[in-house]
Amino acid sequence: MATERTFSILKPDATARNLTGAVNAVIEEAGLRIVAQRRIRMSDAQAKKFYEVHAERPFYGELVEFMTSGPVVVQVLEGENAVAKYREVMGATNPAQAAEGTIRQKFAKSVGENTVHGSDSLENAGIEIKQFFDEKDIVG
Ligand code: CMP
Repeated sequence: MATERTFSILKPDATARNLTGAVNAVIEEAGLRIVAQRRIRMSDAQAKKFYEVHAERPFYGELVEFMTSGPVVVQVLEGENAVAKYREVMGATNPAQAAEGTIRQKFAKSVGENTVHGSDSLENAGIEIKQFFDEKDIVG
């Protein structure tokens, strides 16, 4: 196994409920290191670009609207097998199907307002990290 970096977003439903610390505790307890973190308000253009792979999906408009509805926390996580590890820690997209102890089982409200995003592949992690962070701002 290799040390990897993955990209994470704590979504507006998390910041609205002051869950940044609680979610970060689950991340850190799982052995993932938060090597960069910034609280931002995502612009419409940023959200549309970030989710452009979903542009043809019926929920795209709703997704962009939600992601720009309040502050988000963008993060870079580092660790052994970080991409797959974080997906395991997040749990299934639909919180009703998320395993016990996962972030989405604990905190997510619905499939849309599901508290966190994590990259789905190492390649996408690299692309997503570059959209929000300069290499010099990542401190491993
Ligand atoms: P995320 O990992 O951020 O990537 C795509 C997002 O689309 C996903 O999390 C969900 O929050 C969202 N999504 C997926 N399916 C639906 C749906 N049926 N309705 C609203 N949002 C959805």
